[in-house]
Amino acid sequence: MAVRDIASLLVGVLLLFLTGGVRAGVEVNMEDRVEVMRGQTAEINCIFMPSDDVGDVMIQWLYTDSASVTHTLYYQDSAMGIVEKDTPFSDRISVNVTGATGTALLTITDVKLGDEQEFICQIRSKDGTGQGRTLLKVFETPELPTIEGYQTGIWVNNHELSKIGACETKNGYPKPNITWYRDKMPLHNFPDEVDSKPVVVVESSRLFSVKSELSMRVMRADKDALFYCEVSYYVPGGMRMTETRRIQVNVQYPSTAITMSVESPQGLIKEGDTVELQCLGNGNPQPAFTLKHGVTETILDSNVAVLNNVTRLNNGVYHCTTLDMDTYEEISGNTTLFANYLDDAVVDPQDPVVSQGEELTATCNALSSLKTHTVWFKDGEEVSKGHTLRLKDAMFDTAGTYVCMVTVPQIEGLETSGSLRVFVQGPPEITEPLTRDIEESKDTTINLSCHARGFPTPHITWSASDGQDLKMVTEEITEDSIHSTVSIKVTSDMNAFCNASNNEGVASVAYSIKAIRHTTTLATTTSTTTTSTTTSSPLSTTTVIAESAIPPKRIKKEKNGVIIAVVIICILLLAILGAVLYFLYKKGKICGRSGKQDLTKEKSTNDNIVVEMKSDNTEEAVLLGINGDRKPAGEQ
Ligand SMILES: *[C@@H]1O[C@H](CO)[C@@H](O)[C@H](O)[C@H]1NC(C)=O
Ligand SMILES: *[C@@H]1O[C@H](CO)[C@@H](O)[C@H](O)[C@H]1NC(C)=O
Ligand SMILES: *[C@@H]1O[C@H](CO)[C@@H](O)[C@H](O)[C@H]1NC(C)=O
Repeated sequence: MAVRDIASLLVGVLLLFLTGGVRAGVEVNMEDRVEVMRGQTAEINCIFMPSDDVGDVMIQWLYTDSASVTHTLYYQDSAMGIVEKDTPFSDRISVNVTGATGTALLTITDVKLGDEQEFICQIRSKDGTGQGRTLLKVFETPELPTIEGYQTGIWVNNHELSKIGACETKNGYPKPNITWYRDKMPLHNFPDEVDSKPVVVVESSRLFSVKSELSMRVMRADKDALFYCEVSYYVPGGMRMTETRRIQVNVQYPSTAITMSVESPQGLIKEGDTVELQCLGNGNPQPAFTLKHGVTETILDSNVAVLNNVTRLNNGVYHCTTLDMDTYEEISGNTTLFANYLDDAVVDPQDPVVSQGEELTATCNALSSLKTHTVWFKDGEEVSKGHTLRLKDAMFDTAGTYVCMVTVPQIEGLETSGSLRVFVQGPPEITEPLTRDIEESKDTTINLSCHARGFPTPHITWSASDGQDLKMVTEEITEDSIHSTVSIKVTSDMNAFCNASNNEGVASVAYSIKAIRHTTTLATTTSTTTTSTTTSSPLSTTTVIAESAIPPKRIKKEKNGVIIAVVIICILLLAILGAVLYFLYKKGKICGRSGKQDLTKEKSTNDNIVVEMKSDNTEEAVLLGINGDRKPAGEQ
């Protein structure tokens, strides 16, 4: 602005020289142009040489319309200033005259597009007449530009230009420009290559809308290119630009090579997997493929072929083929499928029988395309690694089911198993019962159980010492064990036998059954107890319940207690008796010292007592005997 001011000042001075030289006039300085946004306020300044008396100066503002007709806007003389009526500016202008500095400032508010005219400031004084001109430029920023790409695919070998898309910018002033870009490089029109002609529309508002459609010859490389538009427009004092978003073009071109791959699963394939084979042409879009494997041909719907539940029969080379649209030659790609397998485990020998103390070797083999790993389990616990199982020094505990698990470490989930049933030959071994002494109430029926193992399966026979026929309750037989339960009636103290035998030997176990006779209410049956419970007083009820609640074993214990108490009391009595006798003897000895002659007579009496006591109780006899023997010793 400053530069422009100085420039116009110089021009003014030059004009002064050119014109002023001829005849006297007034020097007027104005800017060439004033730029303002639509709707804002424009200020156009008019500077003239200050006069000593402003009152002598006549100021006139005029404008030239598009038809080059000049109209007066404002007039001022020494008396007053008048705004001309009936002009487009009448109610939007004001003039501010400052005599001291010699300025007449024209202010236009709410600038319209139509205000873009040339404004003239004319000064008349006694020195003469002078005038200056300023062009008012009005601007409007266009709306943000839009871009639209044509979605349909474009073949590269098209000899005509293809439409890429259209950009539009609306309501700008003055007319904005649209420039197309491909990957940051502007596209210039070029015959048979690029064509983009803008279509300009002048809206009723006098604003400009511009639309530009790009057509060009598409190449393969354009498939990755980013296209966009740049809109440039003037603003007061300069120029601005905005860009649209980027669009891509669906460039289509034929495939010249096919690649094929196993898309899933990743890594090694196993039988049973669902395999996806992918055919990929280097063109766009993907052509129609035919999948070939051996003699079978399949036309694919897409570029992916799905093989469900593959087996080793699916193994081999697969080809994807398509027709080259240019040369009509077949092009193809291939890949190899290999489904790894693990066959069922084969265990050898089957259901082996081994004698006790002997050794058994078994193997578990499963055919696989990969290295396998074998582990043997028995009852869920690992017992051996490797495909050979060696069982040394077989015992009954060695017998059972062995499971071999064969896995392929390289592929998770590829596994198989086999089982081996081992029988250990040997004479029966009775493992149950553990307690063989039974006490039961007389006349009750009880169950006796006996479990024997051995191979061949033992046979169990039962017998009772009272000759009764034992009734079979249950009998469970497995290949190497037998579990037998019989019911037996307790008639008296008796023995029962469980005899197990096979052709390797026999084993037997004896049960000693003690029949208990009940003499108290304890012997009464439950029904009796119930009756007494209902009829008795609360106190007796408690007693009955307590008695009936005591199990037979506890009764036995109590009985034992009574016996023990009796024995202790007897021993205590004997001890007291002994002490008394000893005391008497001691007393007698003291007495004997006073009179020796009486002693022999008493001795014979004592001997008699010994004999009598002996027949009653040995313990007492011994005690007394000592006493008797000692007597002579005490005399010495
Ligand atoms: C628009 O293009 C024309 C012609 O190339 C040029 O004269 C004018 O300055 C341009 N306008 C803008 C705003 O870039
Ligand atoms: C004996 O066993 C059978 C069958 O298990 C059972 O029904 C019965 O109650 C048992 N008898 C006794 C006295 O435990
Ligand atoms: C069972 O074994 C016992 C003792 O070995 C024997 O006394 C009895 O006779 C045997 N009974 C039978 C039925 O074999």
